[in-house]
Amino acid sequence: MTRIAVLLSGRGSNFLALAEAIRRGLVPGCEIVLVLSNKADAGGLEAARKLGLEARAIPSKGVPRAEHDQQMIAALLAAKVDLICLAGYMRIISPEFISAFPNQILNIHPSLLPAFPGLDAQGQALEYGAKIAGCTVHFVDEQVDHGAIILQRQVPVLDEDTHDTLAARILVEEHQAYAEALRRVLSGEYRLVGRRYIKV
Ligand code: GRF
Repeated sequence: MTRIAVLLSGRGSNFLALAEAIRRGLVPGCEIVLVLSNKADAGGLEAARKLGLEARAIPSKGVPRAEHDQQMIAALLAAKVDLICLAGYMRIISPEFISAFPNQILNIHPSLLPAFPGLDAQGQALEYGAKIAGCTVHFVDEQVDHGAIILQRQVPVLDEDTHDTLAARILVEEHQAYAEALRRVLSGEYRLVGRRYIKV
C-alpha cells in the first residue's frame, strides 16, 4: 500500500474528492495516512477527522520557513509516507523539503501550466483573456508551479464568465484530475523522460 499524505491550508475540496475516489476503489493500492495543515482552522482538517483520518496542524504563522518545513518533514517521515499530495497548501516549500521526498510530491494548480503560475490563476486567465483554462497536476520541483506535468484537464472560458463561475468550472475538473494523476503515478506504467511523463 502506498502511504499518502495530503497537505492543505483551506477548505480541502480536492482532498475530499481524492479521499472519496480512494474510498470508492478508483485509485487502487493507496491509502491516506495523514492530513497536515499549516493552519489549525483549515476546513480540510475537520473534514479529514470526520472521515476518521489522522489530521494535524503544524502552524506556520510566525515560524521561520526552514523551521516549519523541518517540523513538516519530521511528521511526514514519522508517518512513513511514500507520496505527498499538495491540495491547496498555500506555502512555498523549501528545497530541503523537496529533496527529502524526491519526485514524491505532487501539486494541483488551477491553470494550464506554464500559463498563470502563482496566486489566483483563475483570475489571471480571465484577465488575460484566455479562451481555454483548466488545471494541472504536476510533480513539485524547486520553482513554483513548475515541475513535470502528470496531467492536465481543460475547460472553456465563456464570455459571460465571472471569476467564480470560471473557478467553479475548473474545480469540477480538479476533482477528477488528482485521482486520475495518482492512478497514473501508482500504475508504474509512466516514466519521466526529461520533463515528459509518458507511458513506456
Ligand atoms: C484549488 O483551486 C487548487 O488547485 C489550488 O488551491 C485550491 C484549493 O482548493 N492549489 P480546495 O481547498 O482543495 O478546495
